[in-house]
Amino acid sequence: MPGAPKDRTSSAPPGALPEPLYRFGPRLEASMEARLVDLEPASLQLAVRDATSGGKKLRPHIALWFADALAVETSVADSVACLTEWLHSAFLIHDDIQDGDEWRRDQPTLWKQHGVSTALNSADWLLSRVYQEVASMGLPGATGGRLLAAVTDVHQRTVMGQQFDLDGRADPHFNLERYEEAVQSKTGRYLALGMVAIAIVADLDERVTDTLWRVGDELGPAFQIQDDLLDMTHHKGRGGQLGNDVKEGKPSILYAHALDRGELSDGDRTRLVEVMGTEREKTTDADVNWVIELCKRCGSIDFARQQAQSRARSGIELFASIHEIDGSLHQQFEEIARFAVERDR
Ligand code: IPE
Ligand code: IPE
Ligand code: MG
Ligand code: MG
Ligand code: MG
Repeated sequence: MPGAPKDRTSSAPPGALPEPLYRFGPRLEASMEARLVDLEPASLQLAVRDATSGGKKLRPHIALWFADALAVETSVADSVACLTEWLHSAFLIHDDIQDGDEWRRDQPTLWKQHGVSTALNSADWLLSRVYQEVASMGLPGATGGRLLAAVTDVHQRTVMGQQFDLDGRADPHFNLERYEEAVQSKTGRYLALGMVAIAIVADLDERVTDTLWRVGDELGPAFQIQDDLLDMTHHKGRGGQLGNDVKEGKPSILYAHALDRGELSDGDRTRLVEVMGTEREKTTDADVNWVIELCKRCGSIDFARQQAQSRARSGIELFASIHEIDGSLHQQFEEIARFAVERDR
C-alpha cells in the first residue's frame, strides 16, 4: 500500500488544520466550486454558496488525505470529499433552524440571511447532491451498493442523533448515557464517513470499515465534547457570545455531567433545569454565567476535557490497530485526532 503523502508544501496558515491535511485545500475548493457554478436559480446558488463557505472543512480534508494514502482515483476521491461536506452543510442548515441560532462562523446563519424557506431549499439541494455524488462515481455494482448503504446509514443516524438532542432539551433526567447515544449518532458517524467511504472505494474489507466506524464512535464524541466546551469557554463563532448552548437548552456533556454526577443541591438542580428550559430570549446573561460557574464548580468542565482527551486516545488506538493501513499514517491520524480535541474554533 502506498505510504504517506510526499509533498508537504502548505498553503494554509499554521493552526488552521493539522499539518497532514494542509495541502488539500486548493483542490477541495476547486472541486466544490466546479459543482456549484451552474446551479440555478441564482438565488439558490447564492444561498448554497453561503452555506458551504468558511468552516474548517475537516471532513472532506480527511477524505482527501485518506484517499491519497490509499491511491484512490482523484475524481472518486473528490466526490467522496464533496459529499461529506454537502452532508455536513445540510445538517448545519437544519441544525441552526432547529437550535434557533442566529450566528455561525461569525456570520448570520443561513435562515437569518436568506429566510427559512430558502435555507430549507438549500439543505434539500445539498442532500440531493450527496446522492448524486454516489451515483456519478461510476463504481462497480457491489462497491456502489456498499457506499450507498454507508451514506444512507450515516444520514439516518445523524437525523436520529439530532432528534435525541432535541428530546434532551432541558430534560431533568438527561444523563451521560443519553449524551453518548445522542453524540455517537449525531456527530460520530459522519465524522468517520469520509474514511469509511474511501476504504469502500479502495475495496478494503468489512473488518476495516467496521473498525473505522468504531474510530468515529470515539472521535465523534471527542469532537462534539470539544464543541460543547468551546461554546462555554470560547464562544465558537457566535459574535463573541459565551454559553449559547445554555440559551438553547442544549443537552451538552456539561449539562449531562452536572445532572448525573455533579452532586448538585436540590436548589442548584432546580435552577439549572429551569434556566435550560427558559426560552432563548428570556435567558439573561446572569443566568448563562450562573450555569457556566456551576459547571466549573461541580467539575463538569474538567470532566469534559478529560473525556475528550481519553476518547481521542481510544480513536487513535483503534486506528493504529488497522494493519491494512500503512504505519506512517498512524502518526498523521494522531495529529488529526489531537486537532479534533485541541482546536479553538
Ligand atoms: C460543527 O462542526 C457541528 C458539529 C458537528 C459539532 P464543525 O466544527 O466541523 O463546523 P465547521 O464546518 O468547521 O464550521
Ligand atoms: C450539531 O451539533 C451536530 C450536527 C449538525 C449534526 P451542535 O448543535 O452542537 O452544532 P453547533 O454548535 O450548532 O455547530
Ligand atoms: Mg447547533
Ligand atoms: Mg444542534
Ligand atoms: Mg455546539
